[in-house]
Amino acid sequence: MSQRHPRRLFVTTALPYANGHFHIGHIMEYIQADIWVRYQRMQGHQVHFVCADDAHGAPIMIAAEKAGLSPQQFVAAIAAGRKAYLDGFHIAFDHWHSTDAVENHQLAQDVYRALKANGLIETRCIEQFFDPEKGMFLSDRYVLGGCPKCGAQDQYGDNCEVCGAVYAPTELTSPRSALSGAVPVLKSSEHFFFRLSDPRCLALLDQWTQSGAVQPEVLNKISEWIEPGADGKPKMGDWDISRDAPYFGIEIPDAPGKYFYVWLDAPIGYLAALKSYFDQGGAQAACGETQSFEAFMADPETEQFHFIGKDIITFHTLFWPAMLHFSGRKLPNAVFVHGFLTLNEGEKMSKSRGTGLDPLKYLLLGMNPQWLRYYLAAKLSGRSEDVDFNPQDFMARVNSDLVGKYINIASRAAGFIAKRFDARLGEVSSDGETVLDQLQMAAPLLAQLYAERETGKAMREIMQLADRVNSYVDQNKPWELAKQDALAGRLHDVCSTCIEAFRLLTLYLKPVLPALAAEVEAFLCIEPMQFADAQRLLGAGHRIQPYRHLLQRVDAQQLEALFEPSTATAEPKPAPKPALPGGQALAPTIAIDDFAKIDLRIARILACEAVPGSTKLLRLTLDVGEGVDAQGQPLTRSVLAGIASAYQSADLVGQLTVVLANLAPRKMKFGLSEGMVLAASDADEQANPGIYLLAPWPGAQPGMRLR
Ligand code: MSP
Ligand code: ZN
Repeated sequence: MSQRHPRRLFVTTALPYANGHFHIGHIMEYIQADIWVRYQRMQGHQVHFVCADDAHGAPIMIAAEKAGLSPQQFVAAIAAGRKAYLDGFHIAFDHWHSTDAVENHQLAQDVYRALKANGLIETRCIEQFFDPEKGMFLSDRYVLGGCPKCGAQDQYGDNCEVCGAVYAPTELTSPRSALSGAVPVLKSSEHFFFRLSDPRCLALLDQWTQSGAVQPEVLNKISEWIEPGADGKPKMGDWDISRDAPYFGIEIPDAPGKYFYVWLDAPIGYLAALKSYFDQGGAQAACGETQSFEAFMADPETEQFHFIGKDIITFHTLFWPAMLHFSGRKLPNAVFVHGFLTLNEGEKMSKSRGTGLDPLKYLLLGMNPQWLRYYLAAKLSGRSEDVDFNPQDFMARVNSDLVGKYINIASRAAGFIAKRFDARLGEVSSDGETVLDQLQMAAPLLAQLYAERETGKAMREIMQLADRVNSYVDQNKPWELAKQDALAGRLHDVCSTCIEAFRLLTLYLKPVLPALAAEVEAFLCIEPMQFADAQRLLGAGHRIQPYRHLLQRVDAQQLEALFEPSTATAEPKPAPKPALPGGQALAPTIAIDDFAKIDLRIARILACEAVPGSTKLLRLTLDVGEGVDAQGQPLTRSVLAGIASAYQSADLVGQLTVVLANLAPRKMKFGLSEGMVLAASDADEQANPGIYLLAPWPGAQPGMRLR
């Protein structure tokens, strides 16, 4: 197949349910995809990399209700927490969207109308358990009762966790609603079905799944859905795509009270995210994209790739391609399936709670995100096998590979270049040339391994190259050469060879270690490296910056702290819910050191005046206990505060309050503000508009610190 250059790629990861924060399994998926995307960009290809929150469905609706929030508020609180993780692990999505956004409502309805016009939608009445107290139909997981096989109590409506039996909720003994405890009644309702068993769908899927779009082991798993089995029929049945109100989802056109099942609109969210990115001008700004979303998606040269985990294969390799094709859209070029991340050899990991490895805690402990990126890269392959995180192995790999083998090359050579040779590179020695040749010749293999997501093999190749460079260093012993002035030329050549080799290794590791690579580029005074730059060298005379240490080793204590059960609850805790206080989720947990950075002081309000031109602001003159000036007047600060709606000058002058005293002074439209007074308010300003300043208990004096 001849490929357009640059290629134009549309890449997604699975859309995470917006019912909890990210766990380490999500982060692994994003890191895998991010490495692949960065690699493609280093090849000069154009990539649009998007994701979104999967907002809909009964579990989120019910969780929101429990939290006393609307589903929209609930989902928004989760969405607000995403950035800290994504930035923290250097995951460079171009755009983050939501399946509840207008684009998705529109696109889902469009897809549905097209399927209907193609004769692939059918309605049928089905009987289902209904909770008479809640007034809603109950999906299997919301019915509890006794297992019909072994009699175990409190089992879910689809299978028994004790004996493993699979059954229908109607087979449970003494069924009850998990939501209200009420005895459910059977009730019939009209449902909408996507006729996936239609021969047209089967023929399409047969062809697409055999076209190389899925991994061999994935094809093995799904072929029974398409190929006739022992009974002469494939497993594929029609798919129930509707749910009855109340439901948090997208309304089905011309069907009052009916909503799309969350899995119908979720993958369409991929398109909605891309559309929103294009419509906002993001694609144009990021890489000069000239096509509209519609033109881009219709362009036969556009390539579409989805990264997903092994638990959602059927949705992505059967239902989704059929939805795309029969709504007149292009098929994905490939669906890349990864396995599950386990902790310590398969210790059970809940899908919603994740493992005991909390990614946010990892970041808050100051652990380098690139350690995790490297470790996961070293473990991942193009196959959908599970990946185990083992803390000892993690520390050993990062410390011995990244620091011991790779970083060491620069730290052993760079000092001499700076001190002895005016920071300029010299020639490459002839034995050094052999080493560099080997490094450069590895480029096509490494490119192929990255393209095939064989990052584990790629990391092993790269570390073997690093070994090769280290034995060159050991043979030449620059520290010995440095002792004899007569050998200065040799020293220069050897160290220059090392720096050249270090640049090549950095280039090869750049998709995995993007921030480190950027630091190396600054250190070497070079432009951001592309993959093709592996074919050249810096050359004699090239000047570099002084070397600063680039990467810390993993510290055993940090690792211990990471896995220490949180003091609050040793019990497994439920997925963090957006908390109620003030209508706003709690900010992520911080350590005491984080608080220590915040300098809060008692301040006396000496004067207070309106700010001409602003209805919100008051200008406060504060005594923060910072001594007196030459005239013996107290030194004061001027602070602008958005409290004019709540207070007047007479209320405030002479009072004590609290000020954030070490905030960098900010130049605002109405003048300089040298700090910030603290006031309380509800997240929902419309519903609860009050603003309340803080006042200390009697006895506090200006300048006292809050701690
Ligand atoms: N919302 C659906 C996906 C809709 S895509 C149109 C969903 N969400 S999820 O939050 O449960 O999972 C999101 C992704 O994380 C999936 O690809 C899933 O396989 C992946 N993982 C969840 N747990 C995981 C591990 N323990 N390890 C690796 N990936 C895991 O499914
Ligand atoms: Zn049982």
